Amino acid sequence: MKKFIWTSEYNLGVSVIDEQHQHFFDIVNRIYDLLEKGNDNKEELLKIVKELTDYAFYHLSTEEKYFTQFAYSDIENHMKYHTMFRIQTGEYSERIRKGDEDLPKLVLEITDFAKNWLTKHILVADKMYAPLFKAHGLN
Ligand SMILES: [Fe+2]
Repeated sequence: MKKFIWTSEYNLGVSVIDEQHQHFFDIVNRIYDLLEKGNDNKEELLKIVKELTDYAFYHLSTEEKYFTQFAYSDIENHMKYHTMFRIQTGEYSERIRKGDEDLPKLVLEITDFAKNWLTKHILVADKMYAPLFKAHGLN
């Protein structure tokens, strides 16, 4: 499983956001560690996936708070990406709740999805708001 390694290309130069992105990827890497060890402890897996999604939602709302505060012109587009993420995450939660799938496999799918989504999202969408955040004194 490919660990996420933070490189400077992911840096927005806005520390509050960069720290959250890094924390998000720390959780992703912890999940990969668990899965690599063959851990199939249901409680543990459910707990860490919940941590991942809770943290993702918390992170998205941090960005959204600043979009409103700084009157971000591209808010509508950016919110569409966030909405897509929330919908997909909701579908995964539903699959977990049903409980008829192989849990480690499902957890891997969710983690890969979250990692790929965030990686692309940082490099494209998040990069676009960074100048505005900086102009408002975030650094
Ligand atoms: Fe975002």
